Order: sequence, then structure tokens, then C-alpha cells
Amino acid sequence: MTPFQPLNLPNGSLIPNRIAKAAMEENLANPDQTPSDELLRLYQAWAEGGAGLLLTGNVMIDPRAMTGPGGVVLDDGQSLQRFTQWARIGRSHGAQFWMQINHPGRQMQANLGQPTVAPSAVALEMGGLSKLFAPPRALDEAGIEELIQRFARTAALAEQAGFSGVQIHAAHGYLLSQFLSPLTNQRQDRWGGSLENRARLLLEVAKAVRGAVSPGFCVAVKLNSADFQRGGFEPADARQVVLWLNELAVDLVELSGGSYEAPAMQGDARDGRTLAREAYFLEFASEIAAIARMPVMVTGGIRRLPIVEKVLANGVAMAGIATALAVDPALPRRWRVGEVGASAELPPIRWKRKAFAALAYMALVKLQMRRLAGGAQPNPQASPLRALLLEQWSTLRRTRRYRQLMAQRVG
Ligand SMILES: Cc1cc2nc3c(=O)[nH]c(=O)nc-3n(C[C@H](O)[C@H](O)[C@H](O)COP(=O)(O)O)c2cc1C
Repeated sequence: MTPFQPLNLPNGSLIPNRIAKAAMEENLANPDQTPSDELLRLYQAWAEGGAGLLLTGNVMIDPRAMTGPGGVVLDDGQSLQRFTQWARIGRSHGAQFWMQINHPGRQMQANLGQPTVAPSAVALEMGGLSKLFAPPRALDEAGIEELIQRFARTAALAEQAGFSGVQIHAAHGYLLSQFLSPLTNQRQDRWGGSLENRARLLLEVAKAVRGAVSPGFCVAVKLNSADFQRGGFEPADARQVVLWLNELAVDLVELSGGSYEAPAMQGDARDGRTLAREAYFLEFASEIAAIARMPVMVTGGIRRLPIVEKVLANGVAMAGIATALAVDPALPRRWRVGEVGASAELPPIRWKRKAFAALAYMALVKLQMRRLAGGAQPNPQASPLRALLLEQWSTLRRTRRYRQLMAQRVG
């Protein structure tokens, strides 16, 4: 298996090569939450860059529930025109283009001014940063039903706009991942308790999404290998969830890990399995690939061609790359034309306060995306502190804009 061989998916569609640009939240929406010109320019760079699959940053299924201000929202309230343009650009060089669809649950800034919902009323614990997040209210049955419908509706609209698939985000401590973890899901009804109950929402969402789109449209799931917290969602749970997903028409499962409380997706977990610096979820992904009926993709710490090859040699069908493609969107194309030594990375941020280092890292990656979106070259050597301050400042600005929008809609 080589990185530039196509991959057949269970629904009969084809991904032209084994490299995916993984989801990265861009916070580049227009004030009305549609894709902006900057966002389109960013995806032009990725489309030209040669990855076989492009995933959007997470798109919200509900304008009241945002992973951050400046996020794209796709629901019945939106005009599809900008989404159609986005889809056309993403697919313009032959890649598949999937929209990642998400709901933040309790991982939502309190100052957005919207009610925070989650499986149970368990607040985020992030030390000094905890107060940035409001304690959530537990969803009721009607709220859960509405969520399932919203995921399905957003998927149907993504298909209508011209995307070739969706990815349901059930990782990183967002709502579906909150349902999966016993630490955040303390419900005693059919949506909580046993793993079967905790996985019910994800499975219902996957079924509803599949039912809302055509057979040739891809439906994928991003799942945590673990949430890396004692008593939380564990690799054995993830394995069982994949066995259940095997029974549904799911075209690909992407494996990642962690949450805001334990950001293992950035390779920062203390778990022995993730300490290898490159492709840190590979061992687990390879175990899952052995039992999964659908192809498996692994994301986290991949930035060199030999590592992509190692991923494939371990039975994993796709290598997902996020950070390195923000630093150099053309990496897959360069590899394909023989620049096999090409790689791209950001210098590590070795601050003592891990939570701040994680935020600065995110800010530095977002800075690269913002530069590409503005037509400039990335600058991986930029100061993480400056990137963090800039990101804080623009988040405040976007928060104000978001609050105005929501106030207008109510008024
Ligand atoms: C700025 C930034 C934004 C991200 N946004 C998302 C997102 O919207 N959805 C998602 O599933 N993962 C998101 N991630 C996680 C990446 O998809 C990926 O799992 C993680 O960065 C590890 O891969 P990497 O080492 O190639 O960066 C984000 C990562 C970064 C750095």
C-alpha cells in the first residue's frame, strides 16, 4: 500500500489517495455564520495541496451552540449559496470534501451568552480557565431528539450544497463524546449508564444522518481512542463502539483522543501509548483497523512521508494531518512529485502551564490558517505568545459580533 493509491469506501465512492487534511476549526465565518471569502481562499490552498480528502473545520448544527465565535453554522436558517461555493472549491482538484458536523455541549464559552447543555450537569474542570465555561444543564428527551434531527438536517444540507460527505464529530470532549464518557454522562435513563446507553446517541445520530442522505454520500465518524482521564472513556469502550458502528453504513472512522480537560489530541497525554511523538494513536488505530469493517484513519502527530507509510503498513487506511497542512498545505503534492523529505511543523511550546501552552499552540496553528486565508505565506516561527494574544483579541471581537447577531435574531 502506498500513500498515493486510491481508497474504496464501503458506499462505492473513492478517495484518490491516503492523505487527509484533518478538521481544524478556522473561526473564519462571515458575521451571518456562512463561509467567508477568506475561508474559501484557505480551502483553495488545501484543494491545490493534493490531499485526497479534505475535512472542514467543525461546522455547527445549531447557531446557539458554538465551539467558538466565528464558526460556520449550517441549518435551515442559512442560505446555501456560500456553502455551494465552498464545496465547489474543496472538490476542484479531485479531493473528496467532507463537512465535519458538531455540537459543543459543555465545551462552549460562557460569554457567548447562550444556554449550555450537556448529557448531565457536570461542569468543565480546567483550573483557572474553568470559569470561562458555564456549568451545563442536562438535556431532556425532547432536546436529545432535536439534536438527532439537527445532525441529520445539517448532513442533508451539506449534500445539497455539493459536499461529498460528512463527518460526525464524536471526539475531543464535545457533545457526542460527552455522552460516551461516564465522567460527563451520569444519566440514568436510556442515554446513560451502560456503554450501550452512552453510545446510543452517537449510533442514533449516525443512523439518522445516513437516512437523510443518498447512499453515495459518505458518512464518517471521528471517535476518541480514549479521553485520557481516570474513569473515563477507554480504548476497550472505543473498540466496542466501532463494533456497533460496523453494523451501520459508516464509510470511515477517524481515531483521535482527548478533550479540553486532557488535550491528548495534541500529543500531550501522559499515557504511555501516546508518548511516541509521531502518529501517537497509531498502535490503537491499528488494533481497531483489525476489527473495523470500514476503513480507519488516524490523526495526530503526522508530518513526514515515512510516517504516513508506517500508518499504512500498520493496516490503517488513511493518515489524517492537521497542523502540518496549516504550515504547508502543499505537503501531499510535494511528496507525490518526489520531494519525499519534505515536512512541516511548528516549534514545540514548552511552557510550564500546560493549559496555556495548549491554547498558544492552537492560536499558532490558527495564525497559519489566517495567513493562508489572507493570501500570505504561513509563518511557523511566529511568537506563540503574540499568536495567543492576537487570538484572544480576535475571539473577543468575534464574541461581540456573535452576541449582536443573536440579539438581533431574538429582537
Ligand atoms: C487549530 C486547531 C483546530 C482544530 N479543530 C478541530 C475541529 O474542528 N475538529 C476536529 O475534529 N479536530 C480539530 N482539531 C484537531 C485536529 O483535527 C487533529 O486531531 C489534531 O490537531 C492532531 O493532529 P496534528 O498533529 O496533525 O495536528 C484542531 C486542531 C487544531 C490545531
